Amino acid sequence: MKDGVTFVILGATGDLTKRKLIPAIYHLVKNGKIGKFAIVGAARSNIQIKKILSESEKFIKNLDKKAWKKVIYFSYYHRVDFYQQEDYRQLKKFVEEIEKKHKLSGNRLFYLATMPQHFEIMTFNLAKIGLVKTKGWARCAYEKPFGEDLKSAKKINKSILKIFNESQIYRIDHYLGKELVGNISLVRFTNRILEPLWKNKHIESVQIILDEDMGVGNRGPYYDKYGAIKDVVQNHMMQLLALTAMEAPKKLVGEYIRNEKAKLLSKVKIKDLILGQYEDYKKEKGVSKKSKTETFAALKLEINNQRWKGVPFFLKTGKNLDKKQTLIIIKFKKVDCLLAKTCEFDSNYIIIRIQPDEGISFEINQKIPEKNEVIPIKVDFCHSCLFGPNTPRGYENLLEDIMKGDQSIFVRKDEIENSWRIIDEIKKRKVYSYKKGSKGPEQLNIFNKKHNIIWKQ
Ligand SMILES: NC(=O)c1ccc[n+]([C@@H]2O[C@H](COP(=O)([O-])OP(=O)(O)OC[C@H]3O[C@@H](n4cnc5c(N)ncnc54)[C@H](OP(=O)(O)O)[C@@H]3O)[C@@H](O)[C@H]2O)c1
Repeated sequence: MKDGVTFVILGATGDLTKRKLIPAIYHLVKNGKIGKFAIVGAARSNIQIKKILSESEKFIKNLDKKAWKKVIYFSYYHRVDFYQQEDYRQLKKFVEEIEKKHKLSGNRLFYLATMPQHFEIMTFNLAKIGLVKTKGWARCAYEKPFGEDLKSAKKINKSILKIFNESQIYRIDHYLGKELVGNISLVRFTNRILEPLWKNKHIESVQIILDEDMGVGNRGPYYDKYGAIKDVVQNHMMQLLALTAMEAPKKLVGEYIRNEKAKLLSKVKIKDLILGQYEDYKKEKGVSKKSKTETFAALKLEINNQRWKGVPFFLKTGKNLDKKQTLIIIKFKKVDCLLAKTCEFDSNYIIIRIQPDEGISFEINQKIPEKNEVIPIKVDFCHSCLFGPNTPRGYENLLEDIMKGDQSIFVRKDEIENSWRIIDEIKKRKVYSYKKGSKGPEQLNIFNKKHNIIWKQ
């Protein structure tokens, strides 16, 4: 990005800015991915930028002092209440002065690092006061969650599309910034050995697992309002599902991928689900003592198209489970038995590991020496073993693509509305308790039996 950029971060005193956005900008600076830049943080608190940066510093490993000094030098803070137009007027002057001082081109990346209930008024005020009118480009990133149901997502979309074109809007799903998520469609569509098998004729079922081994931490008030379904199923898991199951795009870029993901999501239906809540969740800070919010969900979905007719997609996610892992597991149908004796062999699997140890493995059957029997063996690709651990992190990829104007890894209006539609159809359910560090509620066994599912990990 040679012609420079001003990052206007609205919600700069928040956790997301400190934990993710500032470290991502630092890494872009360190890796020479930005030329001229300035960061203008804004929020309600009366605070100095130094304080935000010093809190952010602890989220950066092996700090490069030169790059960090540069970040400090080009960072500013201005107090803004999202609801006060006068504050935006002052912010506009402030941004213009900084752009003048650092001879920046006027490219502005607005990052709404705050809750969705503020998105409409913030966008309106940014436009009303003329902050989005600039000599360069103006692009606006909206952090997830985008709304809290289909109705609110549609309302936000309608309001912000009065101000921006879709090409200026970057709806964030930070999972799409992850290296291995970007890799799903590349692996599918650049390997002839895979795509012919990627359909109901050969695939028995698909599992998408997003397990966490921690509780809600200090996100209690937010999480209690949303729960597992809205916090991760509606966005990250639906995106993983769409990338795994979509038809081949005409080209593996931007709008073509988004067209196919949106089409796929319009065909998805939830067939069954089970919900859980970890023990002592109600004692978490900011959580209602009577909360019925789910911290665990397992779902069975179907995709109503020719490719996937009859193939169940199972999704499972939860907090305070026994492991932290994000995986996609493709289970193939068994081959006909041609062996003379026993045919007790397993299906073939493809396992895409998004985290923690990124990679892809194939499980195929192999002869046991001196016997006419087979056992499953793993053919494993470990991402860090081959490419090293220093691959870009999610938010760096996201910010870099916004600066380039590439929308491939951002969620389009129809995708977001389709995935909210799927979730909106869920009716109220009983929420079963489960022990911390377990695999979920005991009632999951009934669900598993009913749908003949064995979770692979
Ligand atoms: N934290 C993460 O790692 C993470 C990851 C993924 C997604 N997200 C999502 O990102 C969003 C922000 O999360 P967060 O954890 O950063 O929340 P947070 O810590 O509560 O921060 C919210 C920010 O919004 C500002 N704000 C709220 N009302 C305002 C108002 N009327 N005027 C001006 N500023 C106002 C706050 O400023 P003051 O405190 O100064 O008032 C603060 O800077 C949430 O929707 C969350 O779900 C967060």
